[in-house]
Amino acid sequence: MKTIQSSIFETVYRQSIEEPEKFWGKTAEEVHWYKRWERVLNGSRPPFYRWFAGGILNSCYNALDLHVENGRGDQVALIYDSPVTTTIKKFSYRELRDTVARCAGGLKKIGIGKGDRVVIYMPMIPEAVIAMLACARIGAIHSVVFGGFASKELASRINDAQPKAIISASCGIEVDRIIEYKPLLDAAVEMSDNAPEHCVIVQRPEAAATLRPGRDIDWTEFMDAVPADCVPVGATDPLYILYTSGTTGVPKGVLRDNGGHMVAMKWSMKNIYGVAPGEVFWAASDVGWVVGHSYIVYAPLALGCTTILYEGKSVGTPDPGAFWRVISDHGVSVLFTAPTAFRAIRREDPAGKYIGRYDLSSLRMLFLAGERCDPDTLAWAQERLGIPVIDHWWQTETGWAIGGNVAGLELLPIKPGSCTRAVPGYDVRVINDEGEELPAGETGNIVIRLPLPPGCLTGLWQNDRDYVSTYLAEFPGYYVTGDAGYIDEDGYLWIMGRTDDIINTAGHRLSTGAMEEVLASHPDVAECAVCGVSDPVKGEIPLGFIVLKAGTTKDHAEIIRDVIGMVREKIGPIASFKKAVIVRRLPKTRSGKILRRTMKKIADGEEYRVPATIDDPTTLDEIAQSLSAIGYPAK
Ligand code: COA
Ligand code: AMP
Repeated sequence: MKTIQSSIFETVYRQSIEEPEKFWGKTAEEVHWYKRWERVLNGSRPPFYRWFAGGILNSCYNALDLHVENGRGDQVALIYDSPVTTTIKKFSYRELRDTVARCAGGLKKIGIGKGDRVVIYMPMIPEAVIAMLACARIGAIHSVVFGGFASKELASRINDAQPKAIISASCGIEVDRIIEYKPLLDAAVEMSDNAPEHCVIVQRPEAAATLRPGRDIDWTEFMDAVPADCVPVGATDPLYILYTSGTTGVPKGVLRDNGGHMVAMKWSMKNIYGVAPGEVFWAASDVGWVVGHSYIVYAPLALGCTTILYEGKSVGTPDPGAFWRVISDHGVSVLFTAPTAFRAIRREDPAGKYIGRYDLSSLRMLFLAGERCDPDTLAWAQERLGIPVIDHWWQTETGWAIGGNVAGLELLPIKPGSCTRAVPGYDVRVINDEGEELPAGETGNIVIRLPLPPGCLTGLWQNDRDYVSTYLAEFPGYYVTGDAGYIDEDGYLWIMGRTDDIINTAGHRLSTGAMEEVLASHPDVAECAVCGVSDPVKGEIPLGFIVLKAGTTKDHAEIIRDVIGMVREKIGPIASFKKAVIVRRLPKTRSGKILRRTMKKIADGEEYRVPATIDDPTTLDEIAQSLSAIGYPAK
């Protein structure tokens, strides 16, 4: 394989793969440790690997206290920018440290200690970040649940994590809609088998929540506590659990450690995003997603940057220039968001005329992730902004980029549609179903040779069995990413799609399997399938195919309204499940496998081959007719 000549990148990459202990051991010197690790990498129990075993540190200390002690106390650590409430609030490192210490004291007051779980179900308000860091401060394990998930999803996470407390807020604000969180929280607790001892509620002025005496505590009262110091924890102790969609309706609790995570966060800020301490970094995501965990909270603070917590959308609050206003107001150096945000901006402002109205001179680079960035959107953003636009590929599981342009180290030539190279630390390979490595240009399963670098998942919460069976068993010695793609002649990675039933809607990871479970629970539904079909803004949206039970007399439109409502109620509005079609039967192979990919291709207007294994080819024509009746293919 030839590679584009890039001496710095190549050297660093090679070191990271050939001498991982030396590479990461040196990198770890940048982190504050109470006690140094005994071994950089403990590989004595494959496929379980542990980084920096024996090391003792505190992630909150690294993110806050250290900077105050080193003279950054007055620097802004966090900017809360909320167009939906017309609020801008800034916290210096000292203020944030002191507030987090009081919150940690509040947690201790209600009996939370090291290893206890705390679920955080919050909108994008500073208290969410404060609560996360407060958990880290006392060694409690946080599990943030995205606010757009409905009660049932929250309940399943409560059941799995068994939190001692939940921290939430009275409401979220979706542009001009108030979403009351408290009824959703109460319903989730009701549904779960593990009621937490306490729920701490931030009362927002937009909607007050009714508190349950004995269980619920008002945030203000909770914060009236003696500040708590950082508790030293083991490098391999868990920092957080973050649930993500798997191939079934049961979410997977991705487990992150403290030591490896802190090392990877700091390294990635400098070397991937190319930022320096003191600069303003903005990840326009949500703290409920991994991007929010890593790049709103831990990484920018670990490096001593200013981070932005933005409560709003990329467009419409108040205008298509919403992002540009934030960049110019706060002097953002590097922006990280999802391609969907840019597609939405482009739709509203194709000529980019709002861009010219703001001073964007501080902005050096734009990073995109969450889904493959289509070359059109990438070119549009690059042209309008006049800066490098970098697509990079990662997952909740890895916690930071697997593939990307390691721009802080050396900006490599950008190939639109590719996420550039495997990032140092990741030995990425492409293999066929038999486990054989494929030559350049051939598409196959994208896998990562073990061990994964620091910062990646160390397992699933209390579920080693599923950790191994989901990621490690299929190709021994490798971690299976679940993505398909290829590596080209220049060593560039091309991520082409999932090998399972996960879809990405507006940068949000969703399981179509989970939606199928909901549809199947409708009394009139005999069989169903959900496919991700192309959408000009959200990338992909789910589309339901429903076969009714014989003898059903209910109006079809009503059944479709029912199932749409059920998905919204059981999974949440974030599923964006708004379309379904009733069909006579689903196309299947003779062995009974539903041909979801073929249905997707029909809906997208793409060419497809009639599989030789299909049981009845006429079903494909019927599917095409049903789809055409609801406007598909859209092109
Ligand atoms: N609480 C409650 N509901 C929520 C929610 C939350 N925290 N977040 C989203 N929702 C709702 C939305 O209101 C919407 O409801 P609707 O169907 O009634 O309109 C639904 O969930 C889908 O939300 P979303 O996918 O965000 O679509 P949108 O049309 O509201 O906005 C974008 C689309 C592209 C403008 C928006 O997703 C965006 O700005 N994304 C960029 C950043 C990003 O999300 N990155 C994620 C990973 S990096
Ligand atoms: P999540 O865990 O929500 O971050 O989703 C991870 C999945 O999103 C990956 O496994 C990919 O399928 C997809 N993904 C994320 N970033 C990219 C990217 N830059 N290019 C292609 N796919 C991506």
